[in-house]
Amino acid sequence: MTDADARSQWVKRPAAATEGTNCPLEEYQALYARSIEDSDAFWAGQAQRLDWITPPRTVANWSYDPVSIKWFEDGALNICHNAVDRHVAAGHGERLALIFEPDDPAGEVRRITYAELQAEVIRMANTLKAMGVAKGDRVTIYMPMVPEGAFAMLACARIGAIHSVIFGGFSPEAIAGRVEDCESDWIVTADEGLRGGKRIPLKANVDAALDKVPAKAVLVVRHTGGDVSMTPGRDHWYHELSADVASDCPCEPMNAEDPLFILYTSGSTGSPKGVLHTTGGYAVWTETTFRYVFDYREGEVFWCTADIGWVTGHSYIVYGPLLNGATALMFEGVPNYPDHDRFWAVCEKHKVNIFYTAPTAIRALMREGESHVVKHDLSALRLLGSVGEPINPEAWRWYHDTVGKGELPVIDTWWQTETGGVMITTLPGAHDMKPGSAGRPFFGVCPQLVDNEGEVLDGAASGNLCITRSWPGQARTVYGDHARFVQTYFSTYSGKYFTGDGCRRDRDGYYWITGRVDDVINVSGHRMGTAEVESALVLHPQVSEAAVVGFPHDIKGQGIYCYVTLNAGEVADDDLTGALRAHVRKEIGPIATPDHLHFTPALPKTRSGKIMRRILRKIAENEFAALGDTSTLADPSVVDALIEGRKNR
Ligand code: WT7
Repeated sequence: MTDADARSQWVKRPAAATEGTNCPLEEYQALYARSIEDSDAFWAGQAQRLDWITPPRTVANWSYDPVSIKWFEDGALNICHNAVDRHVAAGHGERLALIFEPDDPAGEVRRITYAELQAEVIRMANTLKAMGVAKGDRVTIYMPMVPEGAFAMLACARIGAIHSVIFGGFSPEAIAGRVEDCESDWIVTADEGLRGGKRIPLKANVDAALDKVPAKAVLVVRHTGGDVSMTPGRDHWYHELSADVASDCPCEPMNAEDPLFILYTSGSTGSPKGVLHTTGGYAVWTETTFRYVFDYREGEVFWCTADIGWVTGHSYIVYGPLLNGATALMFEGVPNYPDHDRFWAVCEKHKVNIFYTAPTAIRALMREGESHVVKHDLSALRLLGSVGEPINPEAWRWYHDTVGKGELPVIDTWWQTETGGVMITTLPGAHDMKPGSAGRPFFGVCPQLVDNEGEVLDGAASGNLCITRSWPGQARTVYGDHARFVQTYFSTYSGKYFTGDGCRRDRDGYYWITGRVDDVINVSGHRMGTAEVESALVLHPQVSEAAVVGFPHDIKGQGIYCYVTLNAGEVADDDLTGALRAHVRKEIGPIATPDHLHFTPALPKTRSGKIMRRILRKIAENEFAALGDTSTLADPSVVDALIEGRKNR
């Protein structure tokens, strides 16, 4: 690349973004240096923004070999107090905490102040207690995107219970697996969810899950009023059980390292892992990242379009905004219902100032044309954010030029379920942007690139992205399986946290995430282990073997491509294709629906029987010329047949 090319990548941050910013460039540089050189003092300072029951004397105490991560370990606090009660006590009870925009644009908007949020959370907390939930218990939350989902999370935090939120799109099988893994006796759900005018049978899914695993009690929030069956003694309506609970509920004092939540996420092997986050470090990390990354200013309306079932919703709908006393918008619906302008209609209706969404949504809306955008008054918008997958420069440009009228900063925030909050991004008032690059490390973050042998790569280079030092928001373990935590993140390159992502660092020190380098694919910003889809497929009685890879998809980023061999005598036809797609949806959920099912009599294997995924990936990507060395295959002719099969679809 020539220097001129390199310069032309820059998009200057708008002058307006540097006025009134909480972090101009010189400040970023000074704070970043301090966060590394004098890390304990830096994080002790950030931690002081929270109320502590016992202020911590210790800041960081971590090691990556052996793996043990602790922050603020002698401090005690309650994150719900900090996200809710603290603001009411400071006289901000009338400030809006949540704005709820329902699926149906004509439905009832709910505006919930901090004082109302406090009352609602107390009501939920006392109801959970009435059911028998105690400190340290795991509570599964399987909810639509309604405020009660956030109330339930905060209520758990208030009484010291550990929440495990499961995305409402997951199947009964997936719920059962997660309930069983963390031995969760308690479930909070709703009768039904609503998305794009369709009803999602949440309670019925919970019932089906509880046919497989036991639970002591299910709390059911009435939302659509749809018909559900209630099992006497086990199931309780929230409006009934909460009718006469007390109106006060103390916040349980929690040690900083007490667990706050478990969130299941896919990896390259086995079933989803229960990533565990603890209280103090996560609170400091989400409070700090929200404040700086979104450059939040009092009174602004912040909208993150994620679902609370994903970490983005945990950190940037619930905890980050509320810890900052911000106003967060919660949207129940989908971007294209009733029409493709819904996002922009909601931005106009609620005068959204900061908008945070995923590249897959941007690409889908870009395809529908700019008329949907320009007909709305988006003048309140001040900042645009992206998260979940690499954003291609074309989508970045459309977001910047059409939604942002070329005048707003776009931040591309790289992070993971395991990191708890944003790790790499430009700060809107400090950094110029490069479309397609996430930008610079956040405070305290030390990225490092290594080659496949673990050699450290300096300067401009491409390699595997590791993080060399702990940060407060880092996951502490995999629930119930610390060995798996160590194995997954700290064994590939010893002494470092390995992210699983490939990455390029350019000469300006900007990071460009190139995607996963493991067997994890990113479908519409949702992380999917190919092994999980394979296990689902081989459960089907007609399937003998399956190998699943990603392939480039215009809207989803990556699609799911499944190579399937059938048992002897089975016939591959449209009926079976339909049946297998339905089967995977049933086992995991609609987000795992295969895009392509490629039936093949055999898979390419080495003589020792290992499936050569590299070849399968290339064929799925239509890259037939670059298959690499196929000489170690037991039967190289399999490859030609697969290529023919790919060309014919
Ligand atoms: C994986 C983590 C972060 C919350 C949502 C996803 C990919 C995430 C970006 C970005 C390029 C990104 C990575 C990462 N990813 N954000 N801005 N640019 N890639 O959380 O489900 O834990 O997935 O998403 O591959 O490892 P997650």
